[in-house]
Amino acid sequence: MKILFYGAKDYDQQFFDKLAPKYPGITFKFIEANLYEETASLAKGYDGICAFVNADISTPVVNVLHDMGIQVILMRCAGYNNVDLQTAAKYGIKILRVPGYSPEAVAEHAMALALTANRHTHKAYIKCRENNFALNGLMGVNLYQKTAGIVGTGKIGLAMARICRGFGMRVIAYDLYPNNELDFLEYVSLDELLSTSDLISLHCPLTAETHHLINASSIAKMKDGVILVNTSRGGLIKTEDLIAGIRDHKFYAVGLDVYEEESDLVYEDMSERILQSSTIQRLLSFPNVAMTSHQGFFTEEALTNIAETTLQNAVDFRDNKKLKNEVRL
Ligand code: NAI
Repeated sequence: MKILFYGAKDYDQQFFDKLAPKYPGITFKFIEANLYEETASLAKGYDGICAFVNADISTPVVNVLHDMGIQVILMRCAGYNNVDLQTAAKYGIKILRVPGYSPEAVAEHAMALALTANRHTHKAYIKCRENNFALNGLMGVNLYQKTAGIVGTGKIGLAMARICRGFGMRVIAYDLYPNNELDFLEYVSLDELLSTSDLISLHCPLTAETHHLINASSIAKMKDGVILVNTSRGGLIKTEDLIAGIRDHKFYAVGLDVYEEESDLVYEDMSERILQSSTIQRLLSFPNVAMTSHQGFFTEEALTNIAETTLQNAVDFRDNKKLKNEVRL
């Protein structure tokens, strides 16, 4: 079975090459180019393709992939909001993904962002390097005995809830489908979570319903001085409203691993380019905002799990086995 691996980075190839011998008969061709309409035709002659969160798998791309004879799309990630599931289903193209490859990797990064933005560690590091050992501008707040509000208590939200509990925080949560077996957190309505949390961490998927969940109206309901962290998907937050909220001094700190307009930028070295989007620069201009480039997943354990599950998904598809990681409409 031949798979074209779009958007390959050295680290992807390293982890897939290490595990591939355990899955004979599955061969990968790694290419740097990401998947979008112009590169979709490169898939000619392959049985399947492998893509990541930043690929464009919208209708025109799925049309081309179908014309190229692609039968399976192996997403080497958990989210699939970038995939036109309807068109794929129309052509019988299977979509397989890697659910929960390391919830702790993302949750630990969410807490790292909360701490960085709150305690200005990113600023302190630069100051120390320049022999500026003054503490002005670096003050933070304790998280101990504060309230953490977790939106979405799936695998990552639950891991984040545990971390917050470990910090001695009271943990409240909102989810469409509460998990009543969790005895260390209390489910509340979204409005109550917004109005009572000192730290809000977003862990629900991006859907039509959650798109711009954080907007002017929901920000207005938050406590003044709240810390907001998003490691889920950029579209959960209406960026313009977030910027307005930061300017109004609503937020003590904001930590973002994901943001709208990220797809053309993440995982690329743009240091020599003149960026066309000003949103990210505006966010970075605020002293209480810490940003990373969609790296929540980026641990050795997570990359191992991603490679293992993607290879197993390919084998299951090839052998007509039950597709336990299939994304259905
Ligand atoms: P999951 O599927 O285990 O959990 C999602 C939870 O959100 C579920 O409990 C679900 O009931 C809940 N939910 C769905 N709609 C909701 C709504 N409207 N309001 C409140 N809750 C809602 O997913 P998992 O593995 O915990 O991942 C969460 C998100 O994290 C993914 O959708 C993905 O966008 C993001 N992610 C980010 C990564 C990164 O590197 N920054 C890596 C992996 C995932």
